[in-house]
Amino acid sequence: MSGIAIIGGSGLTQLEGLDIVRREVVHTPYGEPSGPVTHGILHGREVVFLARHGYGHTIPPHKVNYRANIWALKSLGVERVVAVNSVGGISEDMAPGTLAIPDQIVDYTWGRAHTFFDGDGAPVTHVEFTYPYCGDLRRALIEAGREAGVPLRERGTYAATQGPRLETAAEIERLARDGCDMVGMTGMPEAALARELDLCYACCAVVVNWAAGRGPGDGRIPMTEIERWLREGMARVRRLLERLFGSFGD
Ligand code: HPA
Repeated sequence: MSGIAIIGGSGLTQLEGLDIVRREVVHTPYGEPSGPVTHGILHGREVVFLARHGYGHTIPPHKVNYRANIWALKSLGVERVVAVNSVGGISEDMAPGTLAIPDQIVDYTWGRAHTFFDGDGAPVTHVEFTYPYCGDLRRALIEAGREAGVPLRERGTYAATQGPRLETAAEIERLARDGCDMVGMTGMPEAALARELDLCYACCAVVVNWAAGRGPGDGRIPMTEIERWLREGMARVRRLLERLFGSFGD
């Protein structure tokens, strides 16, 4: 049993420095999670790791079984979840390579199984979601970033889009007008499902490209650059997570 989990996104299908203890296949009432859950030790602390897109990175954002993933973690006794998500940068200070700990979400996704409260005779339930991320875990991530010397944007609004295609320049203009600072495809419904199961959930976003129309030249997204920023950004995430885990008492 472990109290904390990491959900790794693109570029983080495995966690370097994690001493793997065992892998566990978890079945849930909502189907299969993205893969077996890895139990391990990171910086002296037990941790559960799950690769959101599968260990072979084969599951696209709109096909991730978010309900099964979150349910599986809850069923293992997880209480806190650090979600790592790659994003495109919309705001001027969201250049590729930047890490951000968002504090708000605008959800543009559709058609995803997005709730555990689906009726079926259960009372209608509306979860509180004014502040979608767990304040304590956000603060711990920000503090870990400071201590590890990893520069962080300490807040921001995450736009969750449907994917798998990237956005048009006009769509990004609209998201900017909506007040969004970064755009990704996997932040929702994951965050809301975590809230439904009362998990303390926060996101560490890694900017891997300028969002459509925001970058130099004609604003097209150079796919080759994404690989590079994924590698560099994830190296920073690992430093941050090591510090975070070092800081947790038992
Ligand atoms: N848009 C949506 N999702 C993303 C992007 C983007 O530009 N970059 C990484 N994930």
